[in-house]
Amino acid sequence: MANSYTALSQYYDLIVASGYYDYGAYDAYARTLLAQLGDHRDVLEVGVGSGLVCERLLELSGARLRITGIDDTASMIAQARARLGHRVELIRHDIAELTALPAFDAAYSVARVWYEVEDAADTALCSHLPEESDDVRALKNLAAAVRPGGSLLLAVQQGHRTFQRPLPGGLVYTQEIRMAGSTEGGMEGGTEGGTEGDRYVKDCFVRRAGEVLAHQRRRFRVYPQDRADQLLAECGFHFEAGTGDGLLRQYLRT
Ligand SMILES: C[S@@+](CC[C@H](N)C(=O)[O-])C[C@H]1O[C@@H](n2cnc3c(N)ncnc32)[C@H](O)[C@@H]1O
Repeated sequence: MANSYTALSQYYDLIVASGYYDYGAYDAYARTLLAQLGDHRDVLEVGVGSGLVCERLLELSGARLRITGIDDTASMIAQARARLGHRVELIRHDIAELTALPAFDAAYSVARVWYEVEDAADTALCSHLPEESDDVRALKNLAAAVRPGGSLLLAVQQGHRTFQRPLPGGLVYTQEIRMAGSTEGGMEGGTEGGTEGDRYVKDCFVRRAGEVLAHQRRRFRVYPQDRADQLLAECGFHFEAGTGDGLLRQYLRT
C-alpha cells in the first residue's frame, strides 16, 4: 500500500530514538504544544503513530487534556494502544476519508500527515496525501471537527535528506530521498509525475549485515509556504504565527 507504515512500524521507535528528529524532539514538541494549547481541552493528534509525542504531552499536562489520536496503520495504532492504554481515544482511519469526527478545541500533527520543513529561506509544507484534492478533502474534514477559534498546530522539522545511521542490535537505518520519476539508483522506473518538481520519494530501509529486514516507500509533496497558507485558509485554517522556538506553526480555525 502506498505510504503505508506497516513495514517499518516495528522499528519506528528505534529509528526515532536514534536521533531521527534533529530537534531531539518529543519533549520539546510536547512542551511547545502544551503552551500553545492554552486552556484547550479536547485535542486531536493526526497521525498519532506509536504515541510518542502524545505520551509526552499527556505526562506534561496531567489529566487536563483529552486526546484522540487518528492513524491509518493498524500496527502503529497497536503500538500506541500498548504505550498509552486507554488514556487516549484511538481511531484507525485515513484522515482524508474520515468525516464523522467529534468536535475538538484543537488539532496537531507532528511528522505527518502534514508538517512543515525548514527550507533555506522559509518553511514549506509537506503532505503525504497523494493529490492536492486529498489535502483539501482532509483539511476540510479537519476544519469541520475543530471548533471556531480553535487551532491547528503543525510541527516544523528539518528538511528531508539522505543518510545512514546505526541502530541498536546491529541494525542499520538508511533513508534515500529523490524526486519522483527519477530512476536514479534504479529503484523506481516509470513516470510517476513530478510535473512541477513538487513530488518526492523517500525510501527507508532497515538492514542487518546487508540483509534488508524492512523497506518502506513513502511519497510526499511539498507546497511552498505561501501556497500552503492559501490552501489552508481556503479550508478554514488561517495562519496565526510561528512559535518563538521555531517548532510549530499555528493556524486558527475561523
Ligand atoms: C512518522 S509517524 C509520526 C507519529 C507521531 N506523530 C510521532 O510524532 O511519533 C506518521 C504516522 O502518520 C500516519 N499516517 C500517514 N498518513 C495518514 C493518513 N492519511 N491518515 C491517518 N494517519 C496517517 C502513519 O500511519 C504514521 O503512523
